[in-house]
Amino acid sequence: MANILCIGAGYVGGPTMAVIAKNCPQHRVVVVDINEARIKAWQSDNLPIYEPGLDEVVRCARGRNLFFSTEINRHIAEADIIFVSVNTPTKTFGQGAGRAADLQYWEKTARQILENSTSPKIVVEKSTLPVRTAEAMERILNSDGGCGCAHFDVLSNPEFLAEGTAVRDMENPDRILIGGRETPSGQQAVQTLVDLYANWVPRERILTTNLWSSELSKLVANAFLAQRVSSINAISALCEKTEADVTEVARAIGMDSRIGPKFLKAGVGFGGSCFRKDILNLVYLCQYYGLDEVAAYWEQVVTMNEWQESRFVSNMVSAMFNTVAGKRVALFGAAFKANTGDTRESPALAVCRGLLEEHAEVVITDPKALENAREDLGALAQRVIFEPDPYAAAKNAHAIALVTEWAEFAELDYEQIFRSMVKPAFVFDGRNILNHKALYELGFNVYAVGRPPLTHFVRNNH
Ligand code: NAD
Ligand code: UGA
Repeated sequence: MANILCIGAGYVGGPTMAVIAKNCPQHRVVVVDINEARIKAWQSDNLPIYEPGLDEVVRCARGRNLFFSTEINRHIAEADIIFVSVNTPTKTFGQGAGRAADLQYWEKTARQILENSTSPKIVVEKSTLPVRTAEAMERILNSDGGCGCAHFDVLSNPEFLAEGTAVRDMENPDRILIGGRETPSGQQAVQTLVDLYANWVPRERILTTNLWSSELSKLVANAFLAQRVSSINAISALCEKTEADVTEVARAIGMDSRIGPKFLKAGVGFGGSCFRKDILNLVYLCQYYGLDEVAAYWEQVVTMNEWQESRFVSNMVSAMFNTVAGKRVALFGAAFKANTGDTRESPALAVCRGLLEEHAEVVITDPKALENAREDLGALAQRVIFEPDPYAAAKNAHAIALVTEWAEFAELDYEQIFRSMVKPAFVFDGRNILNHKALYELGFNVYAVGRPPLTHFVRNNH
């Protein structure tokens, strides 16, 4: 039996450890956090995050070999393997502000591990970190702050799960990546982690590399994924000018097996806590190493995304006779994608802010993310109506802007919704999930991303 500890009970720490505990009943898994409310929620029936399938996995292992606690020091002392899954947001101050990773939480954790360790431990970087962070981690752990009798092996094991499919991604990952030192002790640590995952992941999907390749691969994977979204969004703007249809273009290029069909959905822009921060982190690293052209190349992925978000709002304003001031607009969605309650960097909230700047009256509806949206909007929340019922949100609205691709939004009775709205009624489908032709036939003026608009206005219909 091994004592496994995870420091950081967030979107990554909670679900990953629950899946490890479920699949490895022979090991004891403890997840700790400084946030007491979060730990209490993990101990309750009302988990702190919404993820399909997570309740079942937690219920299966919690109290058996999965525990949540705020007693960080005690559990560090007892642990054999420590996953570090604390947040690594973009730095907001000092050198590298706005681009570099803020490593203060991560460094505090490293020092805390050192101070509370008297036995050998494997320390696993689960958080997304700049390449060569493990070197700093090793230096801190091997500095003379502790009792001197602990030996540490540092591994990199980045997480690739996506929110909304976290449990599925963990249960059946494309690959598990483990980076370690090429020393005998480093390689033994790598083998220990390989054996842990091999409890449920086929060994051929467990990839081992050197530390730096592993750390860098995580940033590169997110950069490539986000780049595809920005690429198709860039093309969506050209489609809108030329009456090409971006969904048809995506299908046509995606059938080329060298390009592939995934991550080619044009929309209102990518969100989530990681794409932006990880690309900016990559940009910062490139600048640090003097690779200015490489930095500029990747920075453009973020610039394009910001433009896509603001372009969506400009398109709304210009379609609605160049003013939305005083008009009620129903925002369908607040989460950054479907099947999560997470609103971090959500394009939905960027659109909300843009509409508020134009003095629209914004009503947001979302099945899971209203509470987080209210918190993220801060003072602006006072100017927004939060309405769980989409029918009530759309009532008396001039426009609906669909900004999160929740399946339930496609299944609403749009005939009823149309009747309750101010005319002319507009739908702006920021995710291209609605039946545009059917909506048009009901009387809506329909604007999608990267597709010709369907309007009842004669001048726009040529
Ligand atoms: P999160 O903010 O949801 O969770 C991080 C947790 O760490 C918080 O609950 C915080 O209280 C806790 N914490 C911070 N400092 C601590 C300390 N010193 N001791 C104990 N707990 C501490 O973040 P997240 O979304 O889980 O992301 C964590 C890391 O994983 C980030 O580096 C992120 O880039 C990476 N990642 C995230 C995802 C994702 O889908 N969210 C996917 C892959 C990788
Ligand atoms: C992403 C990666 O997919 C994960 O592999 C990674 O582990 C994670 O970031 C992370 O490091 O945090 P996530 O942000 O949860 O996962 O969700 P994605 O499915 O990647 O979607 C990100 C954003 O891109 C969403 O706003 C989504 O709506 C948007 N997107 C995605 C599109 O606009 N079009 C697409 O075709 C795909």
